[in-house]
Amino acid sequence: MLLSIRSTALLAIGLSTATVLPDRKRLVSRQYDTSNPYANWPSYADLPLDSSYPTKAAWGVWGADDVHGALNHITNDTRRQAASEIQTGKAFNLNLELSFMPRPINGERRPLVHLFQPGDGYTDDVMTINTQMSTQFDGLRHFAYSTDGNSSTYQYYNDLIPDYDHVVGWNYTSVLGIQQAAEKGIAARGVLLDYKAWMDARNQTYNPLSTWSVHASELQQVAEWQGLPSNFSRPGDILVVRFGWLAAYGQLNETEKQELVLGPGNYIGLIANEESAEWLWNQKFAIVGADNPAFEEVPFSHELIGGVYGRSLHQVMISGWGQNILEFIDCEKLAPALRAQGRSTFFITVQPVNKNGGIASPPNAMAII
Ligand SMILES: *[C@@H]1O[C@H](CO)[C@@H](O)[C@H](O)[C@H]1NC(C)=O
Ligand SMILES: *[C@@H]1O[C@H](CO)[C@@H](O)[C@H](O)[C@H]1NC(C)=O
Ligand SMILES: *[C@@H]1O[C@H](CO)[C@@H](O)[C@H](O)[C@H]1NC(C)=O
Ligand SMILES: *[C@@H]1O[C@H](CO)[C@@H](O)[C@H](O)[C@H]1NC(C)=O
Ligand SMILES: *[C@@H]1O[C@H](CO)[C@@H](O)[C@H](O)[C@H]1NC(C)=O
Ligand SMILES: *[C@@H]1O[C@H](CO)[C@@H](O)[C@H](O)[C@H]1NC(C)=O
Repeated sequence: MLLSIRSTALLAIGLSTATVLPDRKRLVSRQYDTSNPYANWPSYADLPLDSSYPTKAAWGVWGADDVHGALNHITNDTRRQAASEIQTGKAFNLNLELSFMPRPINGERRPLVHLFQPGDGYTDDVMTINTQMSTQFDGLRHFAYSTDGNSSTYQYYNDLIPDYDHVVGWNYTSVLGIQQAAEKGIAARGVLLDYKAWMDARNQTYNPLSTWSVHASELQQVAEWQGLPSNFSRPGDILVVRFGWLAAYGQLNETEKQELVLGPGNYIGLIANEESAEWLWNQKFAIVGADNPAFEEVPFSHELIGGVYGRSLHQVMISGWGQNILEFIDCEKLAPALRAQGRSTFFITVQPVNKNGGIASPPNAMAII
């Protein structure tokens, strides 16, 4: 989710894709051996690999020309192992209905348009959506590093997009577009951390529809409360956190929902600080997601990360690590089903739309337990 967007014009036209990019920085990269991806794996302290890269960037970790970032944690082996999570065969749609909110959060975003187009003996429909509404998969063009929010300082994963014009200009390119995630084959083991159930079990009251910082150490406690070992994650896992945001939103009446989407945006989430970034890096998640608007706390907390104030987890994850984020994941049915079986893990597939240059997408996410 992006809370301040600068442009009121819709720029992408969808025709041009093949502009030749100007030279980019020669990236320092690690020795990356696909048969042993974790040889020479940099610790959090080792990031970035070159001091000229932005805060805690993992540029070069998967090679200088890599476009998949953290999705590289998903391999044939991790997919095959994840299949063993299918035990009962029960499937869960993790996507909310597209118009579950009256309009996207952030008043500059346009509401969904859905038109029926009757034909002779058939019926079509046309949907126009801002991909930042309902359940969403944030791709690698969505959120750049920036020190001041000015597009002239934007920096994208692996330095592959030289400037903002190459995302939205007339001759925009498809580099780091959603098509790359669409072609990857995202099937993995999911891990649900149910923060809300943990808080409820301890009779702790909190309001997910207000600014509320969750710390990585608490997520670790949730995991242990669920009976997971402290080293619960495997490379390639997809993390889903149930913060309780959707459950709280579901309690609102229509007027309150209208007010919420147009309001300032104060929501629960993981705090953007050093502890969170280090914890996330160490888990080697392929994707992180949650039932809230931004995974991280909103407004972004901008604590100290890598010696710099003002970074969000969106900046470090999306443009630093090439890590996609899932937002508004609907785990309201999945969570109790897992709990009933004393489980925290499941099989999950995610299939973004295949659109050259796309920035975000409905995730078409499904869990099977
Ligand atoms: C993974 O499977 C694909 C085919 O789906 C194959 O092309 C590729 O070589 C496999 N990778 C490894 C490391 O075995
Ligand atoms: C953004 O930066 C550019 C280049 O430094 C500058 O010309 C422009 O005025 C800045 N825009 C804003 C809104 O500060
Ligand atoms: C877009 O690309 C075309 C063909 O390369 C070029 O003629 C044109 O000047 C470019 N337009 C802009 C705005 O850069
Ligand atoms: C939470 O409240 C319930 C009902 O008041 C009580 O039975 C339970 O012991 C409390 N649990 C804790 C951990 O305090
Ligand atoms: C997790 O920790 C346990 C006990 O400390 C250890 O036996 C196991 O090998 C560890 N697993 C991984 C994947 O590191
Ligand atoms: C919605 O809830 C608010 C209280 O938060 C109340 O003041 C308002 O009357 C309710 N509106 C409707 C239509 O029920």
